[in-house]
Amino acid sequence: MDTYLSLLITISSFFLTTLPLSHGKEGDYYTACSTTYNCGDLTNISYPFWGQNRSRYCGGSDMLKLTCDQNGTTSIEIGSQNFTVLSIYQSPFTVRLARKDLVLSSCISDNTSLDSTVFYYNPDKVENLTLFYNCPQRVSESLPGDFKNNFTCHNESSKCDERAFYVDQTQLRKYEEQLLDCGVQVQVPVLRDVPLGDGGGIQALRQLLEHGFDVLYYSVSDFPSCVACDASGGKCGRRFTNTFLFSCHCRDGAHDLMCPQKGMISLLF
Ligand SMILES: *[C@@H]1O[C@H](CO)[C@@H](O)[C@H](O)[C@H]1NC(C)=O
Ligand SMILES: *[C@@H]1O[C@H](CO)[C@@H](O)[C@H](O)[C@H]1NC(C)=O
Ligand SMILES: *[C@@H]1O[C@H](CO)[C@@H](O)[C@H](O)[C@H]1NC(C)=O
Ligand SMILES: *[C@@H]1O[C@H](CO)[C@@H](O)[C@H](O)[C@H]1NC(C)=O
Ligand SMILES: *[C@@H]1O[C@H](CO)[C@@H](O)[C@H](O)[C@H]1NC(C)=O
Ligand SMILES: *[C@@H]1O[C@H](CO)[C@@H](O)[C@H](O)[C@H]1NC(C)=O
Ligand SMILES: *[C@@H]1O[C@H](CO)[C@@H](O)[C@H](O)[C@H]1NC(C)=O
Ligand SMILES: *[C@@H]1O[C@H](CO)[C@@H](O)[C@H](O)[C@H]1NC(C)=O
Repeated sequence: MDTYLSLLITISSFFLTTLPLSHGKEGDYYTACSTTYNCGDLTNISYPFWGQNRSRYCGGSDMLKLTCDQNGTTSIEIGSQNFTVLSIYQSPFTVRLARKDLVLSSCISDNTSLDSTVFYYNPDKVENLTLFYNCPQRVSESLPGDFKNNFTCHNESSKCDERAFYVDQTQLRKYEEQLLDCGVQVQVPVLRDVPLGDGGGIQALRQLLEHGFDVLYYSVSDFPSCVACDASGGKCGRRFTNTFLFSCHCRDGAHDLMCPQKGMISLLF
């Protein structure tokens, strides 16, 4: 039974992975990549993103895969972290993300890490908020009495409640010495122009993080190619040779840069 099942899986995955490549007509790429990604408020999204009805070869990077859930929320998985995609501005190539997995009530956290070959922070728009966990009593005592950027979280491994603090860059410079007594430190990007609410506590932190943060996406080197491809009536994407390379998917097949311009040739004669 097991052998039969695994044989079946082997055969079907053989057909799934091999067939589209071997019999797929080049023109199919053009049609496939003409569809846009649409989910909730995110509509008409095209290259370099893929996912939903857009195949992998319609995207500019494996990392730019979008997933739509039943609620019309878009997610993107980057490395080992999941983000909600709040918006995408196709010019100037900005995506607004929010960490999905930051469960503040349990003290599990890690630095936000984006792949730096595809995503770039714009330091004018984004700054790091620093979260401090596992803070001893003396940290509370050394901070001003009205300091409200604190909350309690439950540490699953020690089964204890812990004191945690969060500070923006200005507060960090002011209180860094005291806060360095905390055991764990984590950086989370936030929008510079969204003020931290006055309320303090976990609520103000949550609200700030829900606004997300902006990152620039692109393999910048693709950009001129994609403009030329678009202008020639093609759909930007990729083609697999021994690695994925930029490709302009045209009605007559894939081209390296742009679709052949019949009109221009006839102008010459
Ligand atoms: C979708 O985006 C393309 C450019 O990428 C634009 O030409 C087209 O008008 C847009 N369609 C809608 C319905 O917004
Ligand atoms: C995806 O493709 C399927 C089948 O072609 C179609 O029924 C569906 O409406 C498409 N979804 C979107 C969001 O375009
Ligand atoms: C959709 O929204 C409902 C209600 O807000 C929530 O309970 C559910 O988990 C959501 N589903 C997904 C896939 O996020
Ligand atoms: C990200 O979310 C998706 C869908 O909820 C899930 O399948 C995947 O395992 C998650 N990835 C990580 C790294 O948490
Ligand atoms: C997060 O990054 C900072 C350096 O930017 C480092 O000091 C800290 O230990 C990291 N935290 C975790 C939990 O990896
Ligand atoms: C935030 O800190 C991380 C290190 O943990 C760093 O890689 C990143 O560039 C910083 N982001 C900003 C916007 O300064
Ligand atoms: C949770 O508790 C363990 C054991 O005391 C400690 O090593 C770890 O740093 C704590 N984690 C956080 C995020 O505070
Ligand atoms: C932390 O929060 C509590 C109540 O939320 C408050 O009483 C306390 O003064 C705050 N500040 C510090 C430094 O612990």
